[in-house]
Amino acid sequence: MNSFTTNIQLVYIAAAACFVLGLHLMNSPATARRGNQVSTAGMVIAVVATLVLLIHEGTVTGVGWTVLIVGALLGSVAGLYSAQRVQMTAMPQLVSMFNAVGGGAAALVAIYGYIEDESAPGGVLGTTTVFTALDVIIGSVTFTGSLIAAGKLQGVITGQPVIFRGARALNVALAVIIAGTTAFLFTTASLPALLILILASLAFGVLMVLPIGGADMPVVISLLNAFTGTAVAMAGFVITNWALIVAGALVGASGGILTKLMADAMNRSLTNIIIGGFGTGDSALPVAAVGDAQIRSIAADDAAIQMAYASKVIIVPGYGLAAAQAQHGVAELAQVLESRGIEVSYAIHPVAGRMPGHMNVLLAEANVPYPLLKEMEEINPEFARADVALVIGANDVTNPAARRAGSAISGMPILDVDQAKSIIVVKRSMASGYAGIDNELYANPKTSMYFADAKKAMAELTAAVKTLVG
Ligand code: TAP
Repeated sequence: MNSFTTNIQLVYIAAAACFVLGLHLMNSPATARRGNQVSTAGMVIAVVATLVLLIHEGTVTGVGWTVLIVGALLGSVAGLYSAQRVQMTAMPQLVSMFNAVGGGAAALVAIYGYIEDESAPGGVLGTTTVFTALDVIIGSVTFTGSLIAAGKLQGVITGQPVIFRGARALNVALAVIIAGTTAFLFTTASLPALLILILASLAFGVLMVLPIGGADMPVVISLLNAFTGTAVAMAGFVITNWALIVAGALVGASGGILTKLMADAMNRSLTNIIIGGFGTGDSALPVAAVGDAQIRSIAADDAAIQMAYASKVIIVPGYGLAAAQAQHGVAELAQVLESRGIEVSYAIHPVAGRMPGHMNVLLAEANVPYPLLKEMEEINPEFARADVALVIGANDVTNPAARRAGSAISGMPILDVDQAKSIIVVKRSMASGYAGIDNELYANPKTSMYFADAKKAMAELTAAVKTLVG
């Protein structure tokens, strides 16, 4: 390795340090934005270093540079445009599309390398390594799997599990073909065999995600994110690029850890999510009332009186707050309450909403101060001291059924909302949440249901509180 290449490797290490530091800063909402900037800086450094290396080596031709520049420009514009325009509720789909292009690009690196080095006339047999094969397989599976996941979340493909006769046998057949062609490629330079490997992997990605219900997609996307990282790391080994290896390994590892954390917070195993998913969408169908219990409903004025004369109110946001885009409304309501001297805090469940950190990001958008956001372990002991728990579009994460055996969410840690002196639940109907089960909280004598869209409810409540004298 000459000194120029050594210097480039050192720059790659600096870029890798930025990735690690960026990830670390993302540990807290207060520093997450800076974490993103540091990681972006790392990526810019890595890209510039690679371009400098290419110029130095002089291997890229005029046409090559045109393709590189046009491709980079198109990709940057598409990335910037989609990231800026996307609604928070559509973020999982966007991440899934990014996973698809990441996995697909990683696979292309290995495919190109194979065609150039091995199967072209004069190619050298034996340059295909286990990394090449893994890159093609994982990258292709991620490409189609992520497209299907995005399609399901966007509603382009049905959110219902798509299960057909013989699907399992087909999966086994594809796995055998993938293993067989990989072994074959190690001994014979064959473009048709590579093509079969690619097609079988693409088909496997489709069949892996189709049978999973739309509601389980966020966990699947996190898993596919880990796959993308792994494919990128493999691509790094194929072309001996340390920046790719480190960045890919970081994405693979953090995606894997995130998937496990999500599964743990839902008290479900990954196998249960992949094979036995519950909840197949946000059904708005009303479920049977909770047993024969009396459900009490409340109007804005009464709810406002309860809160305006409380000394402590805990707000419990959930998926419905995001769906209604009511984050600014709730922030305004909280401010009006605080101006009356009422202590207000937000209870954040780790899997409230539909993606990790969903509630934190949503409330940060409305400039809710970070210290008011309390994690589950911190806030649970405080519910007993709260005069009012205001549950907005949250359902499963408050369901006491989780505390006993026999329900779909048994064992899932929940927010102890039922410990509050009074509970007001804002949602549109008696419909179930993600898990598709009744919520026993609604039958609690302390609970009043405020049936409305969350955004509309926040405006009505704020207006009603403002009319009350202090
Ligand atoms: P859910 O249990 O899904 O309940 C959301 C509730 O919001 C629904 O019951 C719905 O009732 C209400 N809602 C929908 N639109 C609304 C609107 N415009 N205004 C007012 N309310 C509205 O939500 P949660 O309590 O946040 O729990 C999250 C669930 O998702 C958990 O089961 C969790 O395991 C799962 N999950 C989470 C993640 C992550 S990482 N966060 C990933 C995958 C799955 P109405 O239709 O009656 O209004």
